[in-house]
Amino acid sequence: MNKNKFNYRCTDCGKEYSGSETMYLCPICSKSNTEDQPPKGVLKTIYNYSEIKDRTSGFKELESNCFIELLPIKKLESLPKLKVGNTPLYKFEKLENKELSFELYCKDDSQNPTYSFKDRASNVVSAYAKEQGFETIVAASTGNAGSSLAGLCAAQGQKEIIMVPEAAPIAKLTQIIMYGATIVPVKGTYDDAFDLSLKATEEFGWYNRNTAYNPFTIEGKKTVSFEIFSQLNENIPDRVFVPVGDGVIISGVYKGFEDLLELGYIDKMPTIVMVQSEGSDNIVRNMDRESFEAKSSSTIADSISVDIPRNFNLAKQYIKKFKGEYITVTDNEILIASKKLSKNTGIFSEPAAATAFAGLLSYQKNNKIEDKSKNVVLLTGSGLKDLKAVNKLLDIPESVKPDTENLKKFFNKI
Ligand SMILES: Cc1ncc(COP(=O)(O)O)c(C=O)c1O
Repeated sequence: MNKNKFNYRCTDCGKEYSGSETMYLCPICSKSNTEDQPPKGVLKTIYNYSEIKDRTSGFKELESNCFIELLPIKKLESLPKLKVGNTPLYKFEKLENKELSFELYCKDDSQNPTYSFKDRASNVVSAYAKEQGFETIVAASTGNAGSSLAGLCAAQGQKEIIMVPEAAPIAKLTQIIMYGATIVPVKGTYDDAFDLSLKATEEFGWYNRNTAYNPFTIEGKKTVSFEIFSQLNENIPDRVFVPVGDGVIISGVYKGFEDLLELGYIDKMPTIVMVQSEGSDNIVRNMDRESFEAKSSSTIADSISVDIPRNFNLAKQYIKKFKGEYITVTDNEILIASKKLSKNTGIFSEPAAATAFAGLLSYQKNNKIEDKSKNVVLLTGSGLKDLKAVNKLLDIPESVKPDTENLKKFFNKI
């Protein structure tokens, strides 16, 4: 390792590159990338762990400095002013009024400034762009990454261009426009928007925040693992249920715990459970295949509706290396989970996030959760971002005349 704060390491060929340059994918491995296959050459950001360990007194010291030692930026002042991360980890003892035999924790990342987990990545990308003097940042997004980047760039006074599939939910589009970003609706899917943003990055020299393509999206996302470790009094959970589309959030969760392993603060990895929607299962379905085969996706969980998962290779590597687990859940299970979660915890999540809870419910139903084990469900986005998705569950009663006789009738009816 040279005197840079970090280096990049290709997750496919292992070649290291100096962190002094702005890089996206490994130039060697990405040469043969095609639009119908998950990209090769995603870069991991590697720090000088032994030097950090020698220089600092332990996890608490790193935490008190907001983990700047483990971020690819020079100073905390470069981050947007909005409060990102440090979201609550709630413990629930009961579900449907029944005591649980295991410990259930919900990490509520809808408490981020733009109401989704994606703020963790946008925060770091925005700070890096500021330090490197990039004026314009572009992102392709199913909605959350775009609204997140738009919000955090608004706080920093940066210019951003967001490319979204034309079918993105209205709340997310509204956020992007209200934050003042230039929105480019792209005829086609998220994958079409992604490819267009790459072409524009090359042609116009903008800084690109695309998930996985920009290695620092993983760096921002990994902070959730540091927080979970801290909130469990410097213990790891037994399982973390993660909703998965492109496979970047799950890789961020792994990378955070992997940094802690490298630093010797933990000695094993928690079991990470990848939860995908049955209608968008391109990672789960391809876990044991020789060559990747894409299936066109369709699910109510729009944020995890992905045909070509941009971080397939790294997510698969992590899951194989650390014996992760994976399941799919149906749209109906996602809807039921969404209602159950709201009713039992007071946390209203968007369908993608409820997918992780549906995963936990499926494990519970199949007796796959050990007694007294610690289980964290990652709730990655607010339900207010996609009201249409839960329309089916809404049965809004007819209005009553404002007198108590009518009120009695009303209650007799329901
Ligand atoms: C709310 C929410 N949950 C989960 C995910 C899945 O993350 P990834 O695509 O990195 O797997 C996303 C991604 O857009 C999201 O917005």
